[in-house]
Amino acid sequence: MKLTSALAIRYPIIMAPMFLVSNEKMTKAAMDNGIAGTFPTLNFRKEGELKAVLENLNQHLAQLPPGQGTYGVNLIVQKTNPLYSKHLKECVDAKVPFYITSLGSPKEVIAAAHSYGAKVLCDVTNIQHAEKAAKAGCDGFIAVCAGAGGHAGPYPMHILIPALQKAFPDKILVAAGGIATGQQMASALVLGAHGASIGTRFIASTEAPVSEEYKNGILNYGMEDIVLTERLSGTPCNVINTPAAKKLGYKQNWFEKLLSNNQRTRKYFKMLVQVRGMKKLEQAVKPNNYQQLWTAGQSVEMVYEISSIKDIVAHLTSDLKTSFKEMASLQKDYE
Ligand SMILES: Cc1cc2nc3c(=O)[nH]c(=O)nc-3n(C[C@H](O)[C@H](O)[C@H](O)COP(=O)(O)O)c2cc1C
Repeated sequence: MKLTSALAIRYPIIMAPMFLVSNEKMTKAAMDNGIAGTFPTLNFRKEGELKAVLENLNQHLAQLPPGQGTYGVNLIVQKTNPLYSKHLKECVDAKVPFYITSLGSPKEVIAAAHSYGAKVLCDVTNIQHAEKAAKAGCDGFIAVCAGAGGHAGPYPMHILIPALQKAFPDKILVAAGGIATGQQMASALVLGAHGASIGTRFIASTEAPVSEEYKNGILNYGMEDIVLTERLSGTPCNVINTPAAKKLGYKQNWFEKLLSNNQRTRKYFKMLVQVRGMKKLEQAVKPNNYQQLWTAGQSVEMVYEISSIKDIVAHLTSDLKTSFKEMASLQKDYE
């Protein structure tokens, strides 16, 4: 209830922001099917692009019955994101309904969003992160657990969710990482989450603008094929262990470590790594590209088909209901 009423959505699901994947079409499909669609603002880097997308999404939102679905943006609040201030201003001007912040301090986003009543959920991977975000006044957390696609946290959902729930009982708590089925969603809710943020499952959607090779990769690779690499963005990131990922490698070498730890070079080196990684990923999502550097989480294990977002949401919600019924039927065995 907490997530659905806070975001004005029908089902407690966020289609997670995914760099180079989530676009306007996917976001609208998510909204039309009762959930929250989100995207990183960095997916719209050309002049005027983000503003136009926000206008279209606001028009779309105005046509939906209240409480049916919504959209939100993901801002990378880091000094190394050159578009951060510009994008924040454009989002505030457009009165974006909610924000997901990642990496840096969310303070400025929270003040700007709260000035017109928008909610802010902060990506966190541990209690320390969460304390900082809570101090800054966030409305809740996206608890990024082990196995997530992209920048995954080190802790499993079964530890991180109850720990955050106990420490911050009043905050909205959304589980992210490794969830691709209604059964897994049910387990997140049992642990104390108010909803789930799901990324990897939506890559294999008909609406996703990525190559068929990438979508088929999500179906054909399994959990043991997911590896963490530091060499893409400087922060550990889960990708499929394709030959291109093996060639890229997983750990920074001594020189890269030196540059990323030195106070004078840290910021510039991070920027360089991020721009280089962005370029590599940009190539890899295009059709017929040999690079095959694909971001995804361990839930590739549970993805068996490419489906429309409508069907993905229908499956998630019907499996969620079935899981609760099954749990209720188990109860008698324990009385
Ligand atoms: C392809 C891809 C790109 C991602 N890009 C971003 C991003 O730009 N910003 C962000 O905060 N999280 C990003 N993530 C993480 C997701 O928002 C979300 O936390 C994660 O997908 C949840 O785990 P799951 O993939 O196991 O469902 C990305 C994930 C994937 C799979």
